[in-house]
Amino acid sequence: MKKIIVANWKMKLSYAESITLAKKYQANQLIKNAKSDIVVCPDFISVREVSKILSGKSLFLGAQDAATIDRGASTGEVSPADLKSIGVRYVILGHSERREQFGEDSSLVAAKVKAAIAEGLIPIVCIGESLVERKNGETRNYLQAEIKRLFKGLKLKSSDRFMIAYEPVWAISSVKSAKAMDPEEANFVQEFIKGVVAKIIKKKVPILYGGSVSSINAATYLKMKNIDGLLVGAASLDIAEFQKMC
Ligand code: PGA
Repeated sequence: MKKIIVANWKMKLSYAESITLAKKYQANQLIKNAKSDIVVCPDFISVREVSKILSGKSLFLGAQDAATIDRGASTGEVSPADLKSIGVRYVILGHSERREQFGEDSSLVAAKVKAAIAEGLIPIVCIGESLVERKNGETRNYLQAEIKRLFKGLKLKSSDRFMIAYEPVWAISSVKSAKAMDPEEANFVQEFIKGVVAKIIKKKVPILYGGSVSSINAATYLKMKNIDGLLVGAASLDIAEFQKMC
């Protein structure tokens, strides 16, 4: 299966900087002709303009969040239907920054997943243990419980697609003293996640790894059997770094 590299630009760039970076991605032959699928997730304000810039059979557009409904009295939200209509194909949901900063809980993330799938978007659902859970040896228990909360009762048609991004919160580069997870360990945890997900939704789901991925460690992660792709934050903003990964 083709691997996938997702560039999460977060809210790190101004509108003008996002347009400039999108043009650099588009002009870069290594990115444009990458063996993996590349998904670019700019902030909401830039997504429409970036959609006009990106083209090519391996370059796709993603969003960093979406609402639980398509239309309605929901001030400040962004409709998954509207995202779809401007060419967005993937959507990151339940990122740990949204959980921490905006109090998103599993039931809200589950509702977003449902709405995105109903619209034909491909959700990239983020899960990952905190440093405390890791230190207490609770990683697997936490992940299993979270997967149950997120996907129990989710009815999927055979054509519906979604992905999980395993992002240990302590490994995300914006977290103090973050450190990438050892690729072998990430591979083991992701094997576990695959097993739990397959039991609950009776479907094989691609699992990406995220957390301090850079051009130095990307290839090692991508070689792992249970790592189907990468979710990249900081390193996706640096064109030289990102092209090396691609
Ligand atoms: P990072 O971010 O690659 O900068 O660690 C990953 C993410 O938060 O998705």
